[in-house]
Amino acid sequence: MSISYPLTSTNPYQGNSKELKRWLDKMIDWCQPDEVRLCDGSDAEYQELCDKLVEKGTFTRLNPSKWPNSFACFSDPSDVARVEDRTYICSLRASDAGPTNNWMEPKAMKKILEPLVKGAMAGRTMYVIPFCMGPLGSPFSRYGVQVSDSEYVVVNMKIMTRMGDQALEGLEKADEFVKCLHTVGAPLPQGQADTPWPCNPDTKYIVHYPEDRSIVSYGSGYGGNALLGKKCFALRIASSMGRAEHWLAEHMLIMGVEAPGVEKTYVAAAFPSACGKTNFAMMIPPDGLEGWKITTAGDDIAWIHRGNDGRLYAINPEAGYFGVAPGTNAKTNPNAIASIAKNTIFTNVGLTPDGDLWWEGLSDAPPTNLIDWRKQPWDPQSGKPCAHPNARFTAPAYQNPAIDEQWDNPAGVPIGAFIFGGRRSTVTPLVYQSFNWNFGVYLAATMGSEMTAAAFGEMGKVRRDPFAMLPFLGYHLGDYFNHWLDFGRDLPNAPRIFGVNWFRKDENGKFSWPGFGQNTRVLKWVVQRIQGKASAVESPIGWMPRYEDIDWAGLEKFDHAAFDQIMTVDREQWKKEIMAHEELFSTAYDKLPKEFMFMRELLLSALWRSPEKWGLAEE
Ligand code: OXD
Ligand code: MN
Repeated sequence: MSISYPLTSTNPYQGNSKELKRWLDKMIDWCQPDEVRLCDGSDAEYQELCDKLVEKGTFTRLNPSKWPNSFACFSDPSDVARVEDRTYICSLRASDAGPTNNWMEPKAMKKILEPLVKGAMAGRTMYVIPFCMGPLGSPFSRYGVQVSDSEYVVVNMKIMTRMGDQALEGLEKADEFVKCLHTVGAPLPQGQADTPWPCNPDTKYIVHYPEDRSIVSYGSGYGGNALLGKKCFALRIASSMGRAEHWLAEHMLIMGVEAPGVEKTYVAAAFPSACGKTNFAMMIPPDGLEGWKITTAGDDIAWIHRGNDGRLYAINPEAGYFGVAPGTNAKTNPNAIASIAKNTIFTNVGLTPDGDLWWEGLSDAPPTNLIDWRKQPWDPQSGKPCAHPNARFTAPAYQNPAIDEQWDNPAGVPIGAFIFGGRRSTVTPLVYQSFNWNFGVYLAATMGSEMTAAAFGEMGKVRRDPFAMLPFLGYHLGDYFNHWLDFGRDLPNAPRIFGVNWFRKDENGKFSWPGFGQNTRVLKWVVQRIQGKASAVESPIGWMPRYEDIDWAGLEKFDHAAFDQIMTVDREQWKKEIMAHEELFSTAYDKLPKEFMFMRELLLSALWRSPEKWGLAEE
């Protein structure tokens, strides 16, 4: 039976995808926008919408001599970050969403959402945004269409995805797309005036229907809540697609590592949010490692497929960077500073009257007369930050001077290693290599970070964040572990898996490892391990470099004793660590791979027989 909908505005889509036409009719009827506009993704459209945002008071055009073609904006204070407690995976069965997701029966959720979205775009324009996640023409790419009543979303999607006419053409050929409905949830009935950052301060829902492959986002205009291609599609929905279609959608950066006479190697790495992922992806090798070069293929998400040759190939589904601004400067990340030099949108940073920007860490001394992210004159003595700690830049990936030349290659890049890292002040060494794929999956499954903000719970307690996917997995954690184990099973030469920890502290509570570009030394060992050119010794938890296995040229002050301090495996601490994995495992017990129990036992028994401290100089 076909249902006809009384349209209030005309559906501008007249192409040949019946499914798209039908869905748009329904969205128009539900949301009741004043106007509907099909976005073509052109530069002219981008400029026009940026001008409109300036006119509405959402955007401030920055001083063109300092920040060409760039804009700043301030969000509503109620709308500054992803809202994990309002995020749902509405699979048909609760057991498919698993223990780490909020779940509601799809029908029950639709009953809540339908009345909310009905008429939600009154007084606004509905923008229809066709987009492609991944290089155009890649067999690994996937299409989406987002309808949104936010111009801010359209211009951000233009930077973050391949959107508009070209995407629509591919979508019509594929005739398959993820349906993404987004509304700020702030209708303007009877000509009511708009606000600079419309959102719904009281009600927010970020809802995924994995079986329908659709997303509904209500009430927020910010980042991952509103740019639905990113976390919602490219991670939550895509992880569920990947499970069904035998591929992986991961919260990983992708980087190339090369040196004269060294075969170029691509590495994918997962770190929980706030562990310096963008800095790592854009790292510049330190003095002493001249000739080594690092290139960025992706900074946040990787889609990984098995190639016909049995190797794994990764594409970056995104086309831009949505990075955290505070802490970014010419020393911590010169490539990020170059990436944001023009054509960039800044959200919730500080602003000067002459159209310049500032955030904590951009420079030692802030400029005078700053307006903070709450639009108030900023008093540096107030103790309050000028930029919101989650202030962001949205910048096109092609502006990164270290962009990898293959970043847009439809075939993807071959992955030689996976690296997993958390933030641990003790226990976990600087680097180690898992014994094999299965132990690597175990390592990634049990990774975690010590909590730094009281808001997350008890300070210092380890929050497990398996594969850095905890907030982004679209299905059951136990099924995910099994999927990874299964994925490696038929790989003739599976990528090697490494654990790293840049955050170990000394007895005075100071970071022991200099980090940033110095991490290249660790990466060099990783790459040479894969190529069979670096030695290591076996420890109870995996293979580890000795002091002489790492290239220290240019960093003489980091001596043998300092290295021992960050590499020591303390038997009693590690026994506790392995025992603590039980807490995570018990949450996913119904679907936990049985291999995990055996690996846990093996690790414990190896520790049992090991010296009290492993990895000291005399070993
Ligand atoms: C991000 C995150 O914004 O991981 O990339 O939170
Ligand atoms: Mn991320």
